[in-house]
Amino acid sequence: MARVLVTGGGSGIGAAVCRHLNDTGWTAIAADLRPPEGGLVLDTTDEAAWERALDAAGPLDGLVNCAGIRSRVDIADLDLVEFHRMLDVHVVGTFLGIRGMARRWAAERRTGAVVNIASVVATNAVAGQIHYVAAKGAIAAMTRAAAVELAPVGARVNAIAPGVIRTPMTADRLGDPGQTAWLMSRVPAGRAGEPEEIATVAAFLLSEAASYVNGVLLPVDGGWTAS
Ligand SMILES: NC(=O)c1ccc[n+]([C@@H]2O[C@H](COP(=O)([O-])OP(=O)(O)OC[C@H]3O[C@@H](n4cnc5c(N)ncnc54)[C@H](O)[C@@H]3O)[C@@H](O)[C@H]2O)c1
Repeated sequence: MARVLVTGGGSGIGAAVCRHLNDTGWTAIAADLRPPEGGLVLDTTDEAAWERALDAAGPLDGLVNCAGIRSRVDIADLDLVEFHRMLDVHVVGTFLGIRGMARRWAAERRTGAVVNIASVVATNAVAGQIHYVAAKGAIAAMTRAAAVELAPVGARVNAIAPGVIRTPMTADRLGDPGQTAWLMSRVPAGRAGEPEEIATVAAFLLSEAASYVNGVLLPVDGGWTAS
């Protein structure tokens, strides 16, 4: 049974990915700052914590890099601490995960698939989020770099670019009628997505059904980036 480590598996999209994988024949292991019962404690910015989590998870066939944070600060007010924090969680965290899998797959003479959770802001910027936009753009770029480098050993590395998904991260925005109206004016589907609608796509990208899909940034956004 294929084993997959899911960072950010304690909430929102990551929790939905774990549920969907476990319901469809995979074994998902959640890793999070605040993991669910049976999950692993992981701070994605911490190199030693990654080693501990990957060792504890055992041989893995897949990794979903989903842990994330979001904050809204205008450029003029954004300090370097917050800028670095955003890049550490998303960019350093995703790199450490991909590197951990590359090393282990080489040592174990096996291979697998990585799915990185980016965002529509990797291609379509919004104001007040230069640090988040930079982090998600870097995840998209690292996805291509890792896909190209690891393809010869049979590994695949893809990314999903979610639009607006109903999770604790977006609860404040989706709870505000003004913000919701602005967001929905950008989404042809006219609604927010549900975490399960990202989970099914992550499972597809992990699976053999996507055996020739490598290095893509796949929008799952109700048509946002098509419009
Ligand atoms: N919800 C959306 O609309 C949306 C849109 C695009 C992209 N995303 C991305 O999807 C991912 C999941 O977001 P979500 O909406 O489910 O948010 P969420 O807040 O519900 O879940 C995020 C999870 O990441 C964990 N986390 C945060 N920092 C961590 C760290 N340093 N180490 C380990 N775990 C950490 C949190 O504890 C939490 O469980 C994020 O990368 C986010 O940027 C979300």
